[in-house]
Amino acid sequence: MKKICLVLIVLLAASSFVFGKGQQGGGGGATAPSAGSGTLIGIAMPETHVRRWGKDGASLKAFAEAKGYRAEVAFGDADQAQQNRQIEGFLTQGAKLLVVGNINDGVNSVIAQAASDEVAVIAYDRLIMESADYDYYITFDNFKVGQFQGQGIEQGLNLASATAESPKYITLFAGSPTDNNSKFFFDGAMNILNPYIEKGVLKVIGPYPKTSADNDNFQRIATENWQAPLAKTRMENLLSNDARDVVLDAVLAPNDTLARAIIEACLADAKYVGGKLPVVTGQDAEFDSALSIKNGQQYMTVFKDTTKLAEAAIILADQILKNQTPNIPGASLASGSLTSIGDTGKKVVKTYLLEPVIVTKSNLSVPINAGFYPDDEAAKLR
Ligand code: GAL
Repeated sequence: MKKICLVLIVLLAASSFVFGKGQQGGGGGATAPSAGSGTLIGIAMPETHVRRWGKDGASLKAFAEAKGYRAEVAFGDADQAQQNRQIEGFLTQGAKLLVVGNINDGVNSVIAQAASDEVAVIAYDRLIMESADYDYYITFDNFKVGQFQGQGIEQGLNLASATAESPKYITLFAGSPTDNNSKFFFDGAMNILNPYIEKGVLKVIGPYPKTSADNDNFQRIATENWQAPLAKTRMENLLSNDARDVVLDAVLAPNDTLARAIIEACLADAKYVGGKLPVVTGQDAEFDSALSIKNGQQYMTVFKDTTKLAEAAIILADQILKNQTPNIPGASLASGSLTSIGDTGKKVVKTYLLEPVIVTKSNLSVPINAGFYPDDEAAKLR
């Protein structure tokens, strides 16, 4: 009997070693796969109608392959069911780690599947909400992104010198209600603007959520899936109705794609042609918006060096796959009050933050000198 037990123990130990290796995935298990070695990393990006994501996907793939990994990129076209099928495909192909820029919480079912397959997941620039099935998030300080947008309006309207006798007028837009970032952007901007509204020197035309916690009004200014046509139509309606009898001095636009759509709507209204556009904010330092800023139309953007974000995400992925304690040059592990950025509602995940930079006409050189644009585009911005 004793001999049989001994043989069983040896067989079990051997099998767990073999299966253990085969099951290596997201940093679980005793030994990690050797770096690269053709290990597959699945990269799921949300959409391509916002130009930056096409660039993110290409950068992530290039950095992963430079480290010896196989990398597959898929774009969800703002359809979570489609992105879920793409992620399932990565899992079927044996991906050992996923980098996911989700569209909405519907992604959670495949994140749970990844967890049960011991496949690590990095939430990329968008927190995966209501999930405890992953451990890492890498992004920018998105509250600070919003504060930069608020400061752009503060500076562009010289609000420090504005008076209640001749107030400035603003209307508010927010990003997609399905994107957790939208609340951080909006709350950061209102952190700067609310004191001026309370003093009466800045008046809001249209719905006014003081913060994103006022969900009814926040939903009224939000833009489903960051779709530019929706923002353009809403701006046209505002110009014909709520803002018909005033001249707007500013529009809080949450990103560059929506900023350009809002400017298009304004330029169809005689009040705003000939250099009389409102101060319009944005983010992502997209080329078309950088050109608009250079030409005096959009007022500002926020440069989030997504090339550096992609590089940092792959360094994190590599260290996870090697069971190393992450240490990412240029990204800081959120601590203190900033850890709330990684609160999924079910778990606070380890959040690595990169620094955004406010960009106006005076410092377009920042994204240009960072090599953010191809040479032909950079030449047009100089
Ligand atoms: C957000 C992202 C922004 C912007 C927006 C539209 O999640 O943080 O940089 O790209 O999506 O896709």
